[in-house]
Amino acid sequence: MSTKNTILELLEKNRGKSISGEYIANMLNISRNMIWRAIKDLRADGYVIEAATNKGYRLTDENDIISAEGIKPFLPSPGLSEQIKVFSEIDSTNREAKAQAIEKAAHGTVILADCQTTGRGRFNRDYFSPSGSGLYMSFILHSNLLAFTNPTAITAYAGLCVCEAIESVCDIKPSIKWVNDIFLYGKKVGGILTEAITDFESGGTHEIILGIGINISTKPEDFPETLREYASSLYPDGDSLITRNRLAAEIINRVLASKMPEEAELFGQYKKRLCMLGADLTVTQGKEKYKAKALDINEKGHLIVRTDSGEVKTLSSGEITIF
Ligand code: BTN
Repeated sequence: MSTKNTILELLEKNRGKSISGEYIANMLNISRNMIWRAIKDLRADGYVIEAATNKGYRLTDENDIISAEGIKPFLPSPGLSEQIKVFSEIDSTNREAKAQAIEKAAHGTVILADCQTTGRGRFNRDYFSPSGSGLYMSFILHSNLLAFTNPTAITAYAGLCVCEAIESVCDIKPSIKWVNDIFLYGKKVGGILTEAITDFESGGTHEIILGIGINISTKPEDFPETLREYASSLYPDGDSLITRNRLAAEIINRVLASKMPEEAELFGQYKKRLCMLGADLTVTQGKEKYKAKALDINEKGHLIVRTDSGEVKTLSSGEITIF
């Protein structure tokens, strides 16, 4: 690791506290001059680092730059951070994760970016991914190491992990709109895109790419006009009370937890998080569109609805809009 990154790691570990130049110099066995140069480089990257005589260097609480060093203090095993790759800008973290999976990246590799130029959602829709106010991350998961491989179960599991992570660090209780939307006060604040890499010859699934996007502090006026009515963020006034690194770590800890629930238990928990059971919906399935009431989800995570003509249908895929 470079001197700059080692110092960043030290500063992130002691965020908000001053660490003396002497302590850093002894700890890393480097000169004061090298420390000063690294601090200068970090400031050039946008970090706000205070320097005070007799006190040392302090990474202030306002810093919200995504980095493996900033995520690491919140991971149970420091070794996990080696599998975290952070980009300042990327086309799509899911696209990058797919490329790395094909190159045999390890299970649990996580790709994060400050912003995405062509972030993607379900049905190949754009996912608005501006810099500084959102969390965009993709996991590479090896299907043989997962308790379930059915993409609906993985999406449901990720949805629960995201909701629980937000609840634990932000003290905000989001819910889920079947199947992959994270909702808060009736608006979408995040989404999940699960993609599988299948082996053409065997037809088997080898890697799963689990993409998660969360709008953290995007203000209403910063969303494109077409999204404003439906999209929001965890802190729509723009003042986030958490760092993106902290939330990313909470999500990583949950998604990569060694113990995953059984599918039946998973969908039981998932059902409790749904915000649309009992609601009137518009269901879109391919070219077909109809009105229905959401009744329940079954043990496979499929949505059970009753159409206006009284027919009960079980949906394994499709899109719903609440009205
Ligand atoms: C949806 O709303 O339909 C799913 C949105 C998923 C967005 C995330 S952001 C990180 C990852 N990279 C992408 O291009 N998409 C996912």
